[in-house]
Amino acid sequence: MADDLYIGLISGTSADGIDAALVRCGDRLKVLHARTLPYPPELRCRLLAAAHAETLAVDEFGLLDAAVGEAFAEAARSLLCEAGVEAGSVRAIGSHGQTIRHRPWLDPPFTLQLGDPSRIAEISGITTIADFRRADVAAGGQGAPLAPGLHADVLADASEARAVLNLGGIANLTLLVPGEPVRGFDTGPANCLLDGWAERHLGTACDEGGCFAASGLVDAELLARLLADDYFLRPPPKSTGREHFNSEWLAERLDPTGPLSAADVQSTLLEFSVRSIVDALRIQAPATQRLIACGGGVHNPELMRRLARTLEVAMPAACVLESSAAHGLDPDFVEAALFAWLAWRHETGLPGNLVEVTGARGPRVLGARYPGHMR
Ligand SMILES: Nc1ncnc2c1ncn2[C@@H]1O[C@H](COP(=O)(O)OP(=O)(O)O)[C@@H](O)[C@H]1O
Ligand SMILES: [Mg+2]
Repeated sequence: MADDLYIGLISGTSADGIDAALVRCGDRLKVLHARTLPYPPELRCRLLAAAHAETLAVDEFGLLDAAVGEAFAEAARSLLCEAGVEAGSVRAIGSHGQTIRHRPWLDPPFTLQLGDPSRIAEISGITTIADFRRADVAAGGQGAPLAPGLHADVLADASEARAVLNLGGIANLTLLVPGEPVRGFDTGPANCLLDGWAERHLGTACDEGGCFAASGLVDAELLARLLADDYFLRPPPKSTGREHFNSEWLAERLDPTGPLSAADVQSTLLEFSVRSIVDALRIQAPATQRLIACGGGVHNPELMRRLARTLEVAMPAACVLESSAAHGLDPDFVEAALFAWLAWRHETGLPGNLVEVTGARGPRVLGARYPGHMR
């Protein structure tokens, strides 16, 4: 099968910016160039407001869909410009869009991403594949996580039990045990609650370097209340998002704690992310020998330090923690590479979901195709 160039585009739960990757897909995946284009601040504010809103005006929904589509097209354009590659050399764009609601537990379940793919195809001239999650949801699946298929393709090892941990707004684990089907699920929050608390108390978009968390102490009672959420008792398949783990969810658990300092809360939130991840790994894949981390959380040294320490204490045998960079994959662009890979799967007629991961009735070719018009 000939290798082809694809572009993957995503903005994750954190809505920190659009990650764009130019990827050679085929026998061996290779990320050739990648960059993040921050959202214009006003658009980011509107997106976060929409993600939190109980109700959303239809006009605002339509305007956001168009604006996100334009921002995604701009991310693709500037990626190609930096890489010095012509749009005509790219087979397709895979666009995840921006999730504003993920409700896999409602009846009927749904998941909703913004970013008009027709607009991306029209502006870039490149055929765009988008809407990757809904075919899986329609087939009874969670629609998430989709990353385990790519993780298995590029990071599995026949002689070692591995797991891949994506530290985005939400954390997801992929379990790669030789001889067993690939499994994967969202473990709960990674950065989303940390970002929200830092924004409220420091006025910054995140707790840079984890310094705020490192300056506080873990409160055992609050930690126990956070870990008591039913989500952690649910067996996989499972996925979650800001709809569940958000500032209101935290406020309900903070109320009775008395005079905890803001730094102690941040420290406890970080411990909560770490504990929920390691508990899930210990229960689901206790023999894991290597945990490969990616996503923005790898840039938080306090988070990585506590993860390593907790793995040492809680896992029954030694488990090495390392960044996906050790395997030639830039941790900031694994998710963007995923949507290039999914576009390649779509164009090749291959399924993009794993039924053991999402719980769908069967493998499905994911996404819909919006043809480009080369000028
Ligand atoms: N230097 C850093 N210090 C602390 N946290 C960081 C740093 N860099 C990135 N992050 C965290 O990573 C998050 C972005 O990670 P990302 O993988 O893009 O998540 P998402 O997929 O949800 O957009 C930021 O919101 C922030 O919490
Ligand atoms: Mg991001």
